Amino acid sequence: MRKLRIALTKGRLEKQTMELFERMGLDCTELREKGRRLILPVGDYEVVLAKAADVITYVEHGVCDIGVVGKDTIVENGKSFYEVCDLGIGKCRFCLAGKVGENFYDGYNVKRIATKYPNVTKAYFESKGMDVKIVKIEGSVELAPLLGLSDAIVDIVETGTTLKENGLEVYETLFPISARVIVNTASMKLRRAEIDAFVAGIEKAKQEAGK
Ligand code: PRP
Repeated sequence: MRKLRIALTKGRLEKQTMELFERMGLDCTELREKGRRLILPVGDYEVVLAKAADVITYVEHGVCDIGVVGKDTIVENGKSFYEVCDLGIGKCRFCLAGKVGENFYDGYNVKRIATKYPNVTKAYFESKGMDVKIVKIEGSVELAPLLGLSDAIVDIVETGTTLKENGLEVYETLFPISARVIVNTASMKLRRAEIDAFVAGIEKAKQEAGK
């Protein structure tokens, strides 16, 4: 049987997840010295480095058994997998934001919202019974209101620095976000003992790290 395969979100979450792996006693030497490699041995596991949305795709298709991914990506893209644990890392929040000092709700025009997260945005405004026009942007969403493309953005805010340095402010907070462990549904049945051991290990590491 192949090693249990864990899809890890590249970038922001990578370092903090690796710290939890090391607390679990897993040898992360190869991961630390990965260069441009995308598949690395970590202890008895095989770690795959992927973009957040792809972590979900690999886990849903069963080519990875476990994934570490932000709640933001889960809410935007997630469908069929188990979400088993909140790692307490990668903490940030979904916010509605726009230019400092503007009243978002002023006027009767249909508001335009720029975002990387159209599903989250649609659900939020539907819950408020408000009709908006959503514009999908791939990154640096803060540009959209500055350039006059949108009235506001829905995006993740961590330190708030990006907003501040661009003359934007939070209007409303939607909900908090943190990294989660997700598990493929078939793997959960077929490799339950190994998965339980991994989850117990990472939860213990999380507690020791005070997350
Ligand atoms: C995220 C987010 C904000 C920024 C928030 O972008 O979309 O732009 O981080 O962080 P802060 O509150 O600490 O300033 P990311 O760095 O992931 O890049 P992207 O916009 O190109 O997707």
